[in-house]
Amino acid sequence: MACAGWQSALDPQGPEARHLSDLFWTFTAVVAAVWVLTMLALLAALRRRRPADADPLATNPVVEGRMTKVIATAVGLTAITVLALTGVSYATQKRLFSTHVPGVTIRVIGHQWWWEVRYEHAEASQAFTTANEIHIPVGEPVTVKLNSSDVIHSFSVPTLFGKQDNITGRENEIQFTAEREGIYRGQCAEFCGWQHAHMSLLVVAKPREEFERWRVQQIKAADPPTDPERTKGQEVFLSKPCVMCHSVRGTPAGGKVAPDLTHIGSRQQIAAATLPMSRGNLAAWIVDPQGIKPGVHMPLIKLDPEEVDPLVSYLEGLK
Ligand code: CUA
Repeated sequence: MACAGWQSALDPQGPEARHLSDLFWTFTAVVAAVWVLTMLALLAALRRRRPADADPLATNPVVEGRMTKVIATAVGLTAITVLALTGVSYATQKRLFSTHVPGVTIRVIGHQWWWEVRYEHAEASQAFTTANEIHIPVGEPVTVKLNSSDVIHSFSVPTLFGKQDNITGRENEIQFTAEREGIYRGQCAEFCGWQHAHMSLLVVAKPREEFERWRVQQIKAADPPTDPERTKGQEVFLSKPCVMCHSVRGTPAGGKVAPDLTHIGSRQQIAAATLPMSRGNLAAWIVDPQGIKPGVHMPLIKLDPEEVDPLVSYLEGLK
């Protein structure tokens, strides 16, 4: 995951990731010191080894006594080091899971091979579902509840939090805070099948007001198309099997097994952060999903060549 950048555990952008990064460097420093000391001891032993023709069974009580002391000290120091590292690790764990009142609560459900993202709210009218892109207010604790619809996945956004598994029939909960505005990349971190490597997501941290604007827009149903091209695109979309799996709120499309497309045009990437959002990539994905992500559950839908452009315009316009 590299030393810096939007998906590096060594480039923490929040307190939780910093605790983990500090732990990593503490362990690295201690084990490096142990390695250096061990190598020095080995070199000293090699320099002072007995001549090749010495009697291997000859013993010297003075030397034996000294060696017993040295070995006992080394065993004691090893035990203390291991116990100290265990204590430091436990303290980090405690800090990581001491939670605050969250600014936002999000449920992230792992699917082969994409992320369903539900913004939970006490009022049903304020809750909504999106996919593969999480928006959060900067500087506020965000609670993420994790589960899975099929196999075990692992939610990992290294710059904000370590990782936590998405497990079927079980709810794991984590909390993190993004200190700076920006886009952080996450990746499924548990092998979950053929397209595990193409199961990524983006976390977009922005100021509260901008987040609110985004949230209000996401709650809305899709605007009906106004131009003929997009109107035709919607007709194509609604007449094809797309609606069996995908939802576009405000239309009869209500499938729940694939990403919600109500505001697909507002997302930065498609196919679980596999491709940047663009007309060309949308068209390529619709026409040949198996070519881009072999094994993906999106089937090949037969489209006439003149249906592709309007369909892409329709989807691209779902902002
Ligand atoms: Cu989902 Cu790996």
